[in-house]
Amino acid sequence: MPTLKVNGRRVTVDSDATLLDAARAAGVEVPTLCQFDGLEPWGGCRLCVVDMSQANWDDDWFKVVTACNHPVDEGMTVITDSDRIIETRRVVLDLLLARCPDTPLIQQWALEYGIEQTSYTPNPDPDDCILCGLCTRVCDHIGVSAISSINRGWGREIAPPFNQPPPDCIGCLACAEICPTDCIPFETSNVRRKIWGKEFEMLRDPKTGEAVITKEQAEHFAERSGVPMTYFETSDRSKRREMAKTFEKLQVVK
Ligand code: SF4
Ligand code: SF4
Ligand code: FES
Repeated sequence: MPTLKVNGRRVTVDSDATLLDAARAAGVEVPTLCQFDGLEPWGGCRLCVVDMSQANWDDDWFKVVTACNHPVDEGMTVITDSDRIIETRRVVLDLLLARCPDTPLIQQWALEYGIEQTSYTPNPDPDDCILCGLCTRVCDHIGVSAISSINRGWGREIAPPFNQPPPDCIGCLACAEICPTDCIPFETSNVRRKIWGKEFEMLRDPKTGEAVITKEQAEHFAERSGVPMTYFETSDRSKRREMAKTFEKLQVVK
């Protein structure tokens, strides 16, 4: 378990931890946009940059690295708030504000770093996608990969293949839920769900009638986990009721 220093605070973390984990363990906040616990780090937004020096480097030699995907090592020194780190984050946010000038999340972060307006030419046709890649990574993570990043420059966006309803999408909404700017539209009701232009029928709990999951999602999870489809069709409320009945029986036995 390596021990390192973050902003002068000594901290010991697991050997597979990242510099971001070490900073959090030391109680030091590092801003992130494209990181999400449980998903492989990508290092795309570069907001989490920190200064890092290895134990065997000269005292004044530091390298700028992204904290969310950089491994820890024994004796490292990490500084999260040096002048050049603050300046690097300002540039990142200035560029993001040029891409997404009307997006509240980016406006807030930019303001925290003293930027009211971008110094670059703003996107002439902005939307709220900050290209953090969380949606595509979560979709890959669940084994579907129905969406991806397409085009370049201002035109870069997240979309299904050929901008058509994606055949592989299972309608789980994970991409929309994880999106930090809530920019993936969807509709969901007790009967139907629609996302990325694809419509899904909802499976309903046979006892309570509640919409639980799309048929495609239940099939996907059942196939991957070996758990019967009926488990995924059952609402949390029904599961809790069954559990309560089981406990009731256990008490009677006692
Ligand atoms: S709703 Fe479709 S595109 Fe979004 S994460 Fe689920 S499978 Fe992927
Ligand atoms: S749609 Fe949302 S989650 Fe996906 S890249 Fe854009 S901002 Fe990130
Ligand atoms: S949070 Fe580390 S690069 Fe985005």
